[in-house]
Amino acid sequence: MQLGIIGGTGTEGRGIAMRLAAAGVPVILGSRSLDRAASAVAAILASAGTLPIEAATNGDAIERADVVVLSVPFECVGAVLDAHRFRFRQASLVIDVTVPLVFAGGTPSLAPVAEGSAAEFVRARLAGAVRLAATFKTIPASTLGRLDAPLDCDEFVCGDSIEARDAAVALLARIPTLRPLDAGGLDAARTLERMTALAITLNKRYKARAARFRVVGLPPL
Ligand SMILES: NC(=O)c1ccc[n+]([C@@H]2O[C@H](COP(=O)([O-])OP(=O)(O)OC[C@H]3O[C@@H](n4cnc5c(N)ncnc54)[C@H](OP(=O)(O)O)[C@@H]3O)[C@@H](O)[C@H]2O)c1
Repeated sequence: MQLGIIGGTGTEGRGIAMRLAAAGVPVILGSRSLDRAASAVAAILASAGTLPIEAATNGDAIERADVVVLSVPFECVGAVLDAHRFRFRQASLVIDVTVPLVFAGGTPSLAPVAEGSAAEFVRARLAGAVRLAATFKTIPASTLGRLDAPLDCDEFVCGDSIEARDAAVALLARIPTLRPLDAGGLDAARTLERMTALAITLNKRYKARAARFRVVGLPPL
């Protein structure tokens, strides 16, 4: 499997790259600028040691990957997909991690999205043959980027088909100390994206930075 990340230079993209590369997944870290991608990769390797991560433009990352993580601010997702829609491989899997957060006086809420969620917005803009899952929405990027710290949490996966969800669950299951949970169809992203805002609110209330979620009461998975 080859994984590519659009917007891989951000804290979220870098954190995902580090966790998955440390689990043995080859990662192409994409950016609008090859120089920025190369700097981000150099910084990761300097701090984390040898990992299978290479730098590329977003376009190259999409064309070379069978799993593509979309990790840019929600406001530019439409423009990014317009620019790159035809680069995705047939039957590739896109993993949407975007959250349409807005802040008023430091308080997070979700911007209205006509489709219902960021993930459904993305679905409406991808070719039919491209599969879509949404995940990595409820773990803080700074926590993902600390390879020395166990995640010890659950992460929810939703998607447009059982195949997309199974593939995303299998990918996340490669990360030690993380338990992926199949949360169902893509409309579950409406809940998951609100949970991001909840995690930020909890961090603020309790002066923390690493709030994330763990579900109890499930049978052993
Ligand atoms: N941060 C978190 O804790 C967290 C947690 C869960 C989900 N998320 C979601 O993950 C996504 C990425 O988060 P982030 O904190 O990494 O965001 P970010 O740092 O603001 O942006 C990520 C990357 O997107 C690219 N980018 C910025 N503006 C762009 C534009 N107009 N067009 C194309 N590319 C652009 C930039 O890469 P280049 O300039 O190198 O192209 C940037 O490094 C967001 O949608 C966020 O809601 C974040």
